[in-house]
Amino acid sequence: MTGAIVIQGGYDVAGDIHVSGSKNAGLALMAATVLACGNSTLQGVPPVSDIHNMARNLQYLGASIKRLDGNLHIDTTRLISLHVPDRLAGRLRASILLLGPLVARYGYAKLSLPGGCTIGDRPIEEHVRGLEALGARVKLTNDYLEAHATQLHGTSLHLQTPSVTGTMNLIMAACLAHGTTHIHNAAREPDIVDLILCLIKMGAQIQGAGSDHLIIFGHGRPLSPYQYKVMEDRIEAGTFLILGAISGNSLTVHGCQTEYHTALITKLRAVGAIIDVSGNSVTVCKTKKPSPTDIQTGPYPGFPTDLQPQMMVLLSLAQGISEITEAVYENRFSQAVGLRAMGANIEICGQIATISGIPSLSGADVSGSDLRATASLVVAAIAARGTSFIRGVEYIDRGYHDMERKLQNVGVKITRVHGLDSTKKIEI
Ligand code: EPZ
Repeated sequence: MTGAIVIQGGYDVAGDIHVSGSKNAGLALMAATVLACGNSTLQGVPPVSDIHNMARNLQYLGASIKRLDGNLHIDTTRLISLHVPDRLAGRLRASILLLGPLVARYGYAKLSLPGGCTIGDRPIEEHVRGLEALGARVKLTNDYLEAHATQLHGTSLHLQTPSVTGTMNLIMAACLAHGTTHIHNAAREPDIVDLILCLIKMGAQIQGAGSDHLIIFGHGRPLSPYQYKVMEDRIEAGTFLILGAISGNSLTVHGCQTEYHTALITKLRAVGAIIDVSGNSVTVCKTKKPSPTDIQTGPYPGFPTDLQPQMMVLLSLAQGISEITEAVYENRFSQAVGLRAMGANIEICGQIATISGIPSLSGADVSGSDLRATASLVVAAIAARGTSFIRGVEYIDRGYHDMERKLQNVGVKITRVHGLDSTKKIEI
């Protein structure tokens, strides 16, 4: 039996949505506590299941974690294990972020291969190669990663792919190395900037935040625990901005650091949405005649791959033909199955989706298969005429905090049902 979200769609949304703290930056900040000895406080991190599973990873290692008044208190004074088993590591991709800190602080780590959304191969050679260049000996089997290091030393790294978690892992490891590390072709995502700002508060010396060339001056000793407030979740913010461009009349998204949304806002304006920026709040109004446009995803500051599924919904309603090139992941068009069930006209050839816009979508019984694909089906159901059932609610719970309440507050007729028989399609 599974849960589902039920939406009566076809109505405009209006009002205010406040974005929660960033899941992905929060996961890295939780891993960073391993670099320190003592009690860190992480403020604003959302109680979503990816965060809960990262906490379980840390607790298994011996950290004590309490959530009080919305803050996470993480004490890593006494870690008793350096091995994260499959039943924990396999639950999320971000488990890999424990590898660098554990090897840097304790000289050893064993980690079952990380889980994560099935949107591509999700290789980890950037993590492995970088740690080896820092002086670790890494053994990689089909099931786990094992790394040993007597003392990491500074080096010059050049990433072949600007991996986000790869860059995060290597920054954290380099903080405790002896000597200076240069990371060239580093990923530049804002989540990485947030991690760097926190590491500097912990006593690390890092230059180049936000650029693709990072310099980390390692002193070979643990950092200090931190008090830190995580940045807002830019992908949650972007999801709601796209909702506003589809059904907003008008929708204001608060906690939207607009400097992080240049690529998205440019595309939403190209489609014809009316966008007004005021500090960290963005008000979006839909256009009655959305224009087609082409999207190509890429590393930051390019168009975020995590907003590609949601953008496909908007382009399904544009007056003309749009093209989406998914240049980051090999298998990130799974939302097209559900969107077609709602009437969308989408042709897929390899990494390119060609979308011929239609006047409106219709409610349907659909299933999500990963976090952002399921979010895109929620957005589509709000726009669609009639009732939709969206299965895979557990994906939403991985990365969107309190989504139903936030959407109900702007007029969406949305509820959650439990115990749906997953074998039976519901005729709408
Ligand atoms: C992070 O994943 C995010 N997850 C993803 O968000 C996001 O889609 C991705 O960055 C890109 O922005 C977390 O932060 C927990 P990558 P990550 O390593 O680090 C290739 C979400 O919905 N690559 O940057 O795993 C890889 O094949 C999730 O919140 C290598 O080739 O992404 C892919 O094409 C989904 N070799 C690209 O880089 C490597 O060693 C991006 O992967 C590593 C990656």
